[in-house]
Parts: sequence; structure tokens; C-alpha cells
Amino acid sequence: MTRDFSASFDSPADRLEWSATKWEKYRGRDVIPLWIADMDYPVAPAIQRAVAAHVRHGNYGYMSAPRELAGDLVAYHAEHYGWQIEPGWIVWLSGLVLGINLAVKACCGDGESALTFSPVYPPFLSAAPTQGRRTLEVPLALDEAAWRAGDLRYHIDFARLDAALLPDTRLLLLCHPHNPVGSLFSRDELDALADFCVCHDLYVCSDEVHCDLILDGTTPHVPFARVLAARSSTHLARSITLHGPGKVFNLAGLGIAWAIIPDAGLRKRFRAAKQRLVPEACCFGYTALQAALRAGEPWRQALLARLRRNRDQVSAALDAMHLPHSHPAATYLTWIDTRRLVGKVGNAAQWFEQQGVGLSDGADFGAPGFVRLNFAAGSAVLDEALRRMQEAVYRLDAGG
Ligand SMILES: Cc1ncc(COP(=O)(O)O)c(C=O)c1O
Repeated sequence: MTRDFSASFDSPADRLEWSATKWEKYRGRDVIPLWIADMDYPVAPAIQRAVAAHVRHGNYGYMSAPRELAGDLVAYHAEHYGWQIEPGWIVWLSGLVLGINLAVKACCGDGESALTFSPVYPPFLSAAPTQGRRTLEVPLALDEAAWRAGDLRYHIDFARLDAALLPDTRLLLLCHPHNPVGSLFSRDELDALADFCVCHDLYVCSDEVHCDLILDGTTPHVPFARVLAARSSTHLARSITLHGPGKVFNLAGLGIAWAIIPDAGLRKRFRAAKQRLVPEACCFGYTALQAALRAGEPWRQALLARLRRNRDQVSAALDAMHLPHSHPAATYLTWIDTRRLVGKVGNAAQWFEQQGVGLSDGADFGAPGFVRLNFAAGSAVLDEALRRMQEAVYRLDAGG
């Protein structure tokens, strides 16, 4: 079934009315916000209907996950990722970032270290220090030939990974697909990474929240735990997979996510770390998730088509600005190399903000000189943001 959702993608409602974080940052200023990773689009009608029915019921007390939700999630994993999980492996969470922090606590002792690839979504860098552990940052390798052609592509540098490993390293924090660079790791990379983890007896926490945003709509997502499981059940037992509907179904404000932890001992440690510190998922989050799993697919396919269009529009504009950038295979985030502007403007994120476009500063991801642009915006908003950026860069390049 193909449905047309284009009107809501073209002209989403004003989000300032409900204090959207993305828009609040620039309230009262003429700056178009293309920074934090949520979408300006309203959620799928099936989700709106389910949440509205729950709201009408009028009781918002403590709520357990609906009885059939774990079964729905198991079926979704089998259908979408070819991975047979068990209901008992699921730990419900009220967010992903807290899951990254809990994984660090469950897998690393005090002072021990966790590896992660950079540039990366900032909590991957901060989780270990926040929990009294250490981060070992392993830069992804930039493909120089592609970069010269204006294309930002990254891959895992296994020599760097080997060199970074310490005797006290217990955990790899993996962002898969990778935010901010928007790439999918190749099957060869995933296999080699699994071998590395097996060889060094590492736990892996794989955050797969962007996996339903593989933009071509056909390339299957391969959960990292499935790659480990192909080696042995002992290796599967060292995995924590984090996921949730926050990105793909735009439910970040409803606080609903989960961890999949096949090993009972690790699950117990993860749950113990959560105890009395972490709130349960929001009641509307469970309701929205169930609707998304059962009836969200036509909307998701329409979304992917819109995001592909936006990605290509952004890419054409950045080509015209001579700014190397990613052509993301997944996510609605374009990663842009602004280093050629830095000599003239200083901090590029701040400069673009002065030109009327709010982007994320690459420095927060471990890559000063880069910026990240969120293209999940209404058509007129995106057109105007790109027009402002282009005009400003042309003026700068012309010496104005
Ligand atoms: C890889 C990744 N993990 C987690 C999050 C945030 O998840 P949550 O809001 O559920 O903590 C984001 C948000 O951008 C993300 O990109």
C-alpha cells in the first residue's frame, strides 16, 4: 500500500507552539534550526490515532509494556533484520543515551576503558568518563581520494584500533549506522570488527537507533549482534544492542527505547545499574511504539523517499558551495567539511548561525572544522536554509 504523506512533509506545523528543543534554541531570532536530530514532520497517522485513543482514556498512571509488545518487537526483528531474538532478552528503557551509560557501568569496572570511533555522537565520548571509566577514541579513516572528489567517506582503521587497545579495555561502543558520518559499515568491516572483539574478549554495545533510516529502503540492516552470533553463542553473549523508534518514527519526546541483551548475567548487571536511577518508559511511548511496529511501514517508506530527495537537494547545494560532504546512506544528517572556510570565518557553525542557519558543531563530535546538517525539515524551510548558506559562501568566496 502506498500512501501520500507529502503534505505533512512539505509543510509541517509550527513546533514552537509546543517548545520543540530544536526551535526553542533560536526563539525570537531569524535562524533556521537544522541541528538536533529530530524531524520537523508530524508522526505517522497510525501513531497519532493510537496515542489520541490513549489520551482519551484519561488515565496516565504507571504502565507496564503492553503484553503483546515484546512479541511485536520479536516479529519486527525477524522480518526487518533477519534476527531471531527472544522476548526475555528485551530490557525496556526511557532513552538510548542512558542505555549507553548503563552499558558502560555493566561492562567496565572503575577506571577501565571503552573504545569508540570518532567523529561520533557526543554521548559516545562522554559516557565512560561520566561513569568513572575512560574513553579510548579511535578516529575513523577518511577516504582521501573520495574527499578530493568532494565526497566524505570513512572506514574503520584496524591498525589504529589495535594501537588504541589497552589491557584494561572491556567494551566497544559502536554507532551502527554511524552518526554523524551517515555511513553503513561494510560486511567485511563488521566481520573484521567482530573478530577483533572476539580476539580481545570485548563486550560490544551497538547503538542501532538509525538502522531503520537506511535511505535506499532496500539494503537490509545487519545487527552487530547477529554478526557475533554467527561466530558463537558465547560471542553473542557479549553483546548489548540498543534501539528505539525515536529517530525513524520521530518519538524522541516520548522516551521509549530498549536494550537487547541475550546473556542473563549481563542483563542482570545492566538492570542493576538501572535500578532506582532511571525512570521507566513513558506510557504513551509504549502505545506509540506498538502502533509504529504494527502499522508504521507505509509511512516509513514514504519518509525514506522524502529524505532521499532532501539528501540529494542538500548534496547539490553543497557541491555548488565546494564543501566536501557525506552522501549519507543512512540517517537524515549530512556531515560537512568546512575546514576551507575556517581561515576566513573562524568557527563555521557559529558563522553559519550568523548567516541564519543553525547547524551542529563538529567539535562536539570530536571533529572541529566540520558541521552537521539535519535535512528532515519542511520544503520551504530547507530551501531557505540552503539559499542562505549558498549566498553566504558565495559572498565569502568572492571576497565580500
Ligand atoms: C546514535 C544515537 N544514539 C542515541 C541518540 C539519542 O537517543 P535518546 O534521545 O533516546 O537518548 C541519538 C540522537 O541523536 C543518536 O544519534
